[in-house]
Amino acid sequence: MEKKFNRTLVTCALPYANGPVHIGHLAGVYIPADIYVRYLRLRGEDVLYVCGSDEHGVPITIKAKKQGISPQDVVDKYHSIIKNAFSGLGINFDIYSRTSSKTHNKVASDFFKKLHDEGKFITKESLQYYDEESKTFLADRYITGTCPKCGNDSAYGDQCEKCGSTLSPEELISPKSAISGSIPVKKNTKHWYLPLDKYEAWLKEWILDGHKEWKSNVYGQCKSWIDSGLQARAVSRDLDWGVPVPVEGGEGKVLYVWFDAPIGYISNTIELLPQTWEKWWKQDDSKLVHFIGKDNIVFHCIVFPSMIKAHSDLILPDNVPANEFLNLEGDKISTSRNWAVWLHEYLEDFKGQEDVLRYVLCANAPETKDNDFTWKDFQQRNNSELVAILGNFVNRAVVLTHKYFEGKVPDNKRPEAIDEQVMSEINTCKETMERYLSTYHFRDALKEAMNIARIGNKYISDTEPWAMAKTDMDRTASILYNCLQICAKLSIAFEAFLPFTAEKLRNMLNVGIYAGQDYRKGEGQASENFYTENEGAALHSSQSSSKELILKWDMLAEKELLKSGHKIEKAELLFARIEDNAIEAQIKKLEETKISNQEQANKNMEEQLEAQKAEISFEDFEKLDIRTATVLEAERVPKTDKLLKLKIDTGLDTRTIVSGIAEYYKPEDIIGRQISVLVNLAPRKIKGIESKGMILMARQPDGKMKIISPEDTLTNGATIG
Ligand code: MF3
Ligand code: ZN
Repeated sequence: MEKKFNRTLVTCALPYANGPVHIGHLAGVYIPADIYVRYLRLRGEDVLYVCGSDEHGVPITIKAKKQGISPQDVVDKYHSIIKNAFSGLGINFDIYSRTSSKTHNKVASDFFKKLHDEGKFITKESLQYYDEESKTFLADRYITGTCPKCGNDSAYGDQCEKCGSTLSPEELISPKSAISGSIPVKKNTKHWYLPLDKYEAWLKEWILDGHKEWKSNVYGQCKSWIDSGLQARAVSRDLDWGVPVPVEGGEGKVLYVWFDAPIGYISNTIELLPQTWEKWWKQDDSKLVHFIGKDNIVFHCIVFPSMIKAHSDLILPDNVPANEFLNLEGDKISTSRNWAVWLHEYLEDFKGQEDVLRYVLCANAPETKDNDFTWKDFQQRNNSELVAILGNFVNRAVVLTHKYFEGKVPDNKRPEAIDEQVMSEINTCKETMERYLSTYHFRDALKEAMNIARIGNKYISDTEPWAMAKTDMDRTASILYNCLQICAKLSIAFEAFLPFTAEKLRNMLNVGIYAGQDYRKGEGQASENFYTENEGAALHSSQSSSKELILKWDMLAEKELLKSGHKIEKAELLFARIEDNAIEAQIKKLEETKISNQEQANKNMEEQLEAQKAEISFEDFEKLDIRTATVLEAERVPKTDKLLKLKIDTGLDTRTIVSGIAEYYKPEDIIGRQISVLVNLAPRKIKGIESKGMILMARQPDGKMKIISPEDTLTNGATIG
């Protein structure tokens, strides 16, 4: 049975304030959320739209350290870039606050304390890496070393960015502190844990039985987490940037960023509506929807709900419509490699074309699988969809009305069957859009809105009012009457997707639109509002509209929105063509990024080649047992790109070595070759295979590796030194 809700609280993942927002964030989270919010408001529903910056966590402290500034400086900088960029794209949250705010600090701290006092946590002591030189515990991110899966020598203790594997610091080969470069030691430390295992049965019932309607990517991830068994998760960290642990023994420790960040949804609501926030968070006729990217699913579907359950008086999300990832020109978007289209830069480069980005990112949204953004596609969709279909139809209707009827909606003098037919097709589009929008299928909903424009275009092409005007002015009047009604409908249908364009169109038609409640001024101020001209739908005006006619969603199905005699304004182009040079400039920018990344990689390599390592003693050298050996067998390690499993004859024995050389040597190229091997290296497990020893390789300036072989065939086992 459908549950009846009286209001909707929409949250968007709080972006990390350690970099600007890019198109991947937009397509995954913010565009869909914004469409949803605008749509509900257009329907007259009561909606609160909450977001803010996520300002804690280790990456921010690392960035600060690298730049020699404080973490607060880092988040101040990005908080304002992000906030401005959102509003530049028409994304106007009721509140966009930050987790470094006072309110948040208190709310998150109280949340922790309540759970603590009620015995909802367990504590555990564990051995954690500790940097004796800088006297701090090391977060996983602060430990770097060689990835055991792909051999990347700058993998982090939690993840290898090269091959994408999730790691634990213990798995890194030759771990080092990223702070001092020293070799970390293990030290005992105490932390608070949320015992997720205790919530497993409840989560199973709540999600797996109770929310079968969730998107399959979301449901699937939840199921696999729950099925593989949940474990207690640490909710505190040894760090000095974050919300301090507010209980005894918490000195020098802060709440884990993933514990405090989602509480930001609550604290930001409280900051905006200190008197009435509970209505949104505690009443079960409030519908909570979290918009997030796929990397956030476990936190929003498993961890945060368990926290809420433990807290016991807050509502749970009704849905978590997470998207997959958007790639850029075939490559994974990456902040660190600068492989992205940054929103603030787009807004600079494409002034007045905000809606083009909104359109392309929604049309291409990675709703069910990863998707690709390309500049060519961007241009194509603008020129052959927005300009050629939507813009063209509206322009013809408005221009012809001025040409034949002095800019007034003509009388519907001579209706014909085709008119009815067209209006009923549009009604079907409306119903289809409603079905899609209420189930978070925004791409399909947008397609359907575009179909209304297509229907209009076909109607005007079929009926040819410009030709009809030569013989039958009455019929011409009816045709343009209908075209203008369709224009008004388009301004409703596109309001949620293309708010700037919909507003331009309404200004041409001389109408306003219903914009729902505006909570941005906080308590007591909330009132029904309308968008007025020139304020930008984006601005979510707080003044009443001077327009007599106010459009609402349901009018999309009405026959007459604009009365005969209603005066309209002069035609204004809704979209401009995007020419090749604008696209080429963007592509060039990306190519330059590629080149400079490559140059950086080469430079790092050269530095490695040039810089001599620290001096060692002769005794140190003597510890190395390097010998000649022959490769007997070689095969690829399944499901890896880089690894070969080799059987080698060392003269001492026959043993297995796993080596990251599959990029450079095929198995058949290497069988029978003589190589040099460090034979007394402690055995390691790589991809579950025990590897004994290391093959000596020379790294070339381009990063490729070559085997070091003896000049003549030697006896296996000959010592090198
Ligand atoms: N900052 C996180 C990210 O960008 C998202 C945090 S969402 C919240 O992946 F729920 F924790 F706020
Ligand atoms: Zn790796």
